[in-house]
Amino acid sequence: MNLIGSRKHLLSMKHLSNEDIHQLFSITREIEKGHPEAPFNGRFAANLFLEPSTRTKSSFHIAEKRLGLEVLHLDGNDSSITKGESLYDTLKTLESIGVELAVVRQSEVGLLNTCAEDLDLSLINGGDGCGEHPTQSLLDLYTIDEQFHSFRGLRVAIAGDLKHSRVARSNAYALTQLGAEVSFVTKPEWQDPSLTTNYITMDEAVDRCDVLMLLRIQHERHDQTTAPTSYLEQYGLTKEREARMKDHAIILHPAPVNRGVEIDHELVESRKSRIFRQMKNGVTVRMAVIRALLKGEL
Ligand code: CP
Repeated sequence: MNLIGSRKHLLSMKHLSNEDIHQLFSITREIEKGHPEAPFNGRFAANLFLEPSTRTKSSFHIAEKRLGLEVLHLDGNDSSITKGESLYDTLKTLESIGVELAVVRQSEVGLLNTCAEDLDLSLINGGDGCGEHPTQSLLDLYTIDEQFHSFRGLRVAIAGDLKHSRVARSNAYALTQLGAEVSFVTKPEWQDPSLTTNYITMDEAVDRCDVLMLLRIQHERHDQTTAPTSYLEQYGLTKEREARMKDHAIILHPAPVNRGVEIDHELVESRKSRIFRQMKNGVTVRMAVIRALLKGEL
């Protein structure tokens, strides 16, 4: 794993080779087979969530506990960050008192990279604003791999609020590196400067893709709200569009889902949807990442 700093951190999908990704899948499958797993009994992790989260925070908690770790939880309201302490000083403090792994969600793109250089604890990016979300990407990739067993030539369409989506960015890097044909669907004003090519319409996407990856509209990062009905009809997955998808095609969404906006309410739990499978896989994939970082398995 080509990681920033002491090769202990997971901050960006740009730092993982294809071999690293497949090695993490292999560890995930080993964990799924039910090998006894509590290798880190008596050791400490901290989850520092300065932006809201349900899935990432909860699945890291379960992953850490299943690996035997004791878990500290800090947020923006109950830590000394409210008194002005920096993120670096917070992490250095946790390291000083015995924490070996920290999962951090916060809003400033690139901030974790600067912190990681001088930290001995392992740092995992749990989502940095509009930057990246590497463990979400890994669980998405694992869910795709369960279905197709290869990425080469796979047609993946990433659709939605690209400009504000850390999930889109992490997945676009990784899927392209793995050999998938990645295209994008969005409103003109939500195109991302780092994702410059392969823009198609939603109708083209449903006709050709093997994987349709929908993104949440991130209203909290917008100046104005988008009318839900017109978005679903123009850019979202309606029942009519879903019926045109290839029989083997699957639907992903990192969630939380705006039901009836990015996707018709009834399709969220439909045959092609892997949305709740993604969440299930998130626990074991995160166990694999933690194990790989703490045991130096990559
Ligand atoms: N997909 C995801 O990151 O969800 P949360 O914001 O609930 O963690």
